[in-house]
Amino acid sequence: MIRKYVYGTPFNTEAVIADIKADSGSPAYGTVGLEEGFSFMYTLKERDVVYGLGEANRGINKRGGCYISDCTDNPNHTEDVRSLYAAHNFIVVAGDTCFGLFVDYPSKLTFDIGFTRMDTLAIICETGDLCLYVIEGESSYDIVKQFRKIIGRSYIPPKFAFGFGQSRWGYQTKEDFRQVAEGYRKNHIPLDMIYMDIDYMQDYKDFTLHEENFRDFPRFVQEMKDQNIRLIPIIDAGVKVEKGYEVYEEGVKNRYFCQREDGSDFVAAVWPGDTHFPDVLNPEARKWFGDQYRFLMEQGIEGFWNDMNEPAIFYTPEGIKRVSQVMKSFLENPEAGSPWDVKDALEALSGNQDDYKAFYHQVGKERICHDKVHNLFGFNMTRAAGEAFERIAPDRRFLMFSRSSYIGMHRYGGLWTGDNKSWWSHMLLNLKMMPSLNMCGFLYIGADLGGFGANATRDLVLRWLALGVFTPLMRNHAAIGTRDQECYRFENMEDFRHVVGVRYRLLPYLYSEYMKAALSDDLYFKPLAFVYPEDSHCLQAEDQLMLGNEIMIAPVYTQNATGRYVYLPEEMKFVKFLPNGSLYEEILPAGHHYVEIALNEVPLFIRKGKWIPIADGAEHVEAVNASRYTAVGYAGGEYVLYEDDGIHKDYDNPENWKTLKY
Ligand code: GLC
Repeated sequence: MIRKYVYGTPFNTEAVIADIKADSGSPAYGTVGLEEGFSFMYTLKERDVVYGLGEANRGINKRGGCYISDCTDNPNHTEDVRSLYAAHNFIVVAGDTCFGLFVDYPSKLTFDIGFTRMDTLAIICETGDLCLYVIEGESSYDIVKQFRKIIGRSYIPPKFAFGFGQSRWGYQTKEDFRQVAEGYRKNHIPLDMIYMDIDYMQDYKDFTLHEENFRDFPRFVQEMKDQNIRLIPIIDAGVKVEKGYEVYEEGVKNRYFCQREDGSDFVAAVWPGDTHFPDVLNPEARKWFGDQYRFLMEQGIEGFWNDMNEPAIFYTPEGIKRVSQVMKSFLENPEAGSPWDVKDALEALSGNQDDYKAFYHQVGKERICHDKVHNLFGFNMTRAAGEAFERIAPDRRFLMFSRSSYIGMHRYGGLWTGDNKSWWSHMLLNLKMMPSLNMCGFLYIGADLGGFGANATRDLVLRWLALGVFTPLMRNHAAIGTRDQECYRFENMEDFRHVVGVRYRLLPYLYSEYMKAALSDDLYFKPLAFVYPEDSHCLQAEDQLMLGNEIMIAPVYTQNATGRYVYLPEEMKFVKFLPNGSLYEEILPAGHHYVEIALNEVPLFIRKGKWIPIADGAEHVEAVNASRYTAVGYAGGEYVLYEDDGIHKDYDNPENWKTLKY
């Protein structure tokens, strides 16, 4: 049962696609306050668990933290950080009373979940213009499934996107890419994609190619495809200000960029220097921006990643003025101020709220200040691409994932969780975010494996890959200036070959479970408590996840550990993929166990009575033969395998489904 309450005059975010009539009463749970903006207060019981918030910091159970939905380009995700790249305002309060809330509000929104007062959930925002959806159901899982039904089907990527991808900021020339391809192919480490970061462009201009380095690009794309590798270029939100650059000229001429109050095009500096932001909330400008992807599609490109779309701002001319004023007054009268004022002003240059208040979107006849709809930019940039793919090649699937997002974007693309660090704690954070993201509709998800910032160690990369084996988006990505972390860079490279190889052996299973989740608005990753609601230990399990309908994952995320503790809510079969290609299998009874897991092993647990198909290895997705498999788990049952050509959208074809017996 879903009830919708409308307060003030909300902006239509298009997060929800079901037509739900507004209720005239007030919510059955909590107290709504409308005196100053909007507030929703609810008294939490001692044992209540709070799920949700998608891409957010901290645990699967969100209690004890304060989270602010305010899409932010901040790569330093320490425990106290409240805003990450995305804004996913859906939570479930689970206890004796169970309900879900979706606060459809595209500006800054605070979820204080037992932070200020341990027993108080407070949801607060500055203006009272929003839609509140209150969802009642039998269980948390049931509430999530109802929510997923009203926000529409999750994005489905092409099958190659379930392969492994290598990325690094810093690959510049064809030779760099060839070296990566060779590093993988020569060493027989599976690979399906190499990502092209900003250096493939000419001066960081969207929809251009570096003139010297990427001459005859279609041929190069084909050269890579001949090795079964797809190139996946990045697209940034800001369009470089440069006379004569076609995208810039067209955007200016047609008024497709976000403007200041006085009608001039808003300027924000990002990688290319000064840029304009395409007004992706304006349908006409969105169509125009989406059409630009055609430039690369026509050269053979089948996938993209959308970046810097919070939108990130390094600084603006107005910001520089603010800093120079602070500096000037300090220099003129040092006694009256402090050098820290200058430092603070400098630090406040990036992602400054004043800048987000200084530009506008044209939505129909209305001009809307960006800060009122800030969290919708990434969503609509990705929608621009998704709608363009639909127009350009309606029967094909394209790879698309974004850094910033709002619920609703899950229909157009997946996401990666932005700039993390090569820290063990960030591997655990990666694990915890996955089910929360699924609750909000995002299924094609993953983190920068091995960590983006900071220097990775061999053991971290291996352990993180052993988690990445299970995340739909499996990509190793690193920042410029950090230690090389491609799989072939480390000693005993065969361990990497083995761990990445497990992904390809599991591919028929993982792909089937992804498609089942996507086609029935279900979860691919679930917290244990969604499957074993009666088991109180499961409510606290923060480092194990259910995946699909058959397995549980429990990766090792601690340095120097040779294994880990794991909780089994029921008897399960513990399976390890051993480096010699064989499997270790042991039935373990319900309860707590310590299991040994070496650095070069990939563990999983099969639920009692279930089994999964495991294919032979392959070096790229198309070479995986799903019809040749070994059944692993408990004999006697059936497994439903999903298989299609991986390119088209023929999802409803009954021939895609095969019932396998063991
Ligand atoms: C941003 C992205 C990162 C990318 C970098 C350079 O920090 O999050 O993935 O490598 O920009 O484009």
